[in-house]
Amino acid sequence: MSGQSDGGVALVTGANRGIGREVARQLAQRGYEVLLSARDGEQAAAAARELADGIGAEGGAGPRVRPLTLDVADPDSIAAAAERVRADPGRLDVLVNNAGIGSDFGVAGVAPDFDAIQRALDTNFFGAYRVTIALLELLRASEHPRIVNVSSGMGGVAEMGGWSPGYRVSKAAMNAMTRILSTELKDDGFLVNSACPGFVNTDMGGPMGAQKPVEDGAAGIVWLATLPDDGPTGGFFRDGKAVAF
Ligand SMILES: NC(=O)c1ccc[n+]([C@@H]2O[C@H](COP(=O)([O-])OP(=O)(O)OC[C@H]3O[C@@H](n4cnc5c(N)ncnc54)[C@H](OP(=O)(O)O)[C@@H]3O)[C@@H](O)[C@H]2O)c1
Repeated sequence: MSGQSDGGVALVTGANRGIGREVARQLAQRGYEVLLSARDGEQAAAAARELADGIGAEGGAGPRVRPLTLDVADPDSIAAAAERVRADPGRLDVLVNNAGIGSDFGVAGVAPDFDAIQRALDTNFFGAYRVTIALLELLRASEHPRIVNVSSGMGGVAEMGGWSPGYRVSKAAMNAMTRILSTELKDDGFLVNSACPGFVNTDMGGPMGAQKPVEDGAAGIVWLATLPDDGPTGGFFRDGKAVAF
């Protein structure tokens, strides 16, 4: 999987652990300046420091990972974070909407927990959508704007099964957002895609038996974040291959 790497600025949400952290690491390693965001500012700072140190130890040039406090479920936090990015570095080329929660895994659709469904929507759908809109003007100024929405095969309507209604509906809504924005932003050079990382061994997937290493789950997301200008838009991909919406 190859793509462009122009040393631009990338923002990753929910990047203090799991897939988001690994996406941040891989983007920094490819030469991007990474805004590593997390809802807990101290965790963002610690993770940014660790990644910058690790990359520095591999011989990279200077720290390329900077922390940013961003709770995607809090519109005030989103506004404040967007303001900080506008002030410094004043540039954004790549947005990875990775932050996500599984609030109702295993809950039956016939016995829904509506509060849990609301929480899934607030983070996984409204969070990603609001963050995208708050940062849209900065992305418009990029020569190669890329948006990756970290979705899930569980949000694919074509092959959707039962259980986990909040998680499934929130990721299906995220996929719809990918289609809407990719269509409206096509003529402005944006590439907007959804990614399924697969069943990845993180705090989310591990307890359910996921074996896929986080490096492999992140790779397909980084591929979409670094697509060349003639790359796809409005698609849904796992490991670089199209999957049904
Ligand atoms: N693991 C899998 O098998 C799998 C499969 C398909 C899709 N995905 C998707 O991949 C993405 C990453 O999952 P993961 O496996 O890395 O999960 P994870 O290890 O549970 O990490 C989730 C990340 O999201 C952050 N987050 C949650 N709510 C947030 C909020 N309101 N604001 C900002 N950050 C927030 C968490 O921060 P805190 O530390 O503060 O909680 C954490 O950094 C998610 O969107 C998930 O749905 C994962």
